[in-house]
Amino acid sequence: MVVLEIKDLHVKRESKEILKGVNLKTGPGEVHAIMGPNGSGKSTLAYTLLGHPKYQVTQGDILLDGESILDLKAHERAKKGLFLGFQYPTEVSGVGFSHFLRTSYNALSKALHGEDREVFITVREFQKYLKGNLKQVGLPDEFLSRYLNEGFSGGEKKRSEVLQMSVLKPKISMLDEPDSGLDIDAVQTVAQAISEVSTKDATVIIITHYARILKFLKKLDFVHVFANGKVIKTGDASLADELEKKGYDWVVKKQS
Ligand SMILES: Nc1ncnc2c1ncn2[C@@H]1O[C@H](COP(=O)(O)OP(=O)(O)OP(=O)(O)O)[C@@H](O)[C@H]1O
Ligand SMILES: [Mg+2]
Repeated sequence: MVVLEIKDLHVKRESKEILKGVNLKTGPGEVHAIMGPNGSGKSTLAYTLLGHPKYQVTQGDILLDGESILDLKAHERAKKGLFLGFQYPTEVSGVGFSHFLRTSYNALSKALHGEDREVFITVREFQKYLKGNLKQVGLPDEFLSRYLNEGFSGGEKKRSEVLQMSVLKPKISMLDEPDSGLDIDAVQTVAQAISEVSTKDATVIIITHYARILKFLKKLDFVHVFANGKVIKTGDASLADELEKKGYDWVVKKQS
């Protein structure tokens, strides 16, 4: 069981305060969406959750099952089951996509299930395992022999992020705009892949500007409005439609 609690989180980057008291709690099996205007701090929250060193927490805490993770580095947070799908995935030349996935998979299995379990799978077994996942996100098999994200189109990069999530099966995934740049069919494909990961034990938090991807999810429990560095309103799935119709002004104004 993993409960994530973000409490009164204040974050600075290069002396500028970006997050100004974020409160958010998620439980296993829940699907959350975060929607909010450009520049409101959504990606900052995602980076901070995973421990990006340039973001400085000045107040508040991030707890996993009641324990603070603020002192943990990014790779240590990943080993606790946290995952971030980037808004702008980085191209990593020289690192094979397949090798990257298998190395991450083995490291995570070892961290989450302990060393004594038979978790290491061979290259051949792993490639077999990956085929289903590739198909699910609509990437051809030959992507496995490419370098991580190198030369991937915008949409392919987004599919690659979601593929990483479905392969690694993290406990808590935060996906930063997984739908931006995707073609119309891919939005549905990616939403289905996300739904499969959000099983009873896993939590998924999707940052998005559009209700469209949310409609394709099997379930959506909470929608949060993020503005001026914090969550200012929380509702159910219907809030996403309301925001798309009415914009953010009516919520932001009510707050100030
Ligand atoms: N290094 C920096 N120096 C100064 N300001 C920064 C720096 N990095 C980020 N910011 C500012 O922090 C604010 C929050 O940025 P962030 O990327 O978190 O927004 P966002 O909600 O994800 O927006 P979008 O919807 O456009 O992706 C923005 O105003 C951005 O310009
Ligand atoms: Mg962003």
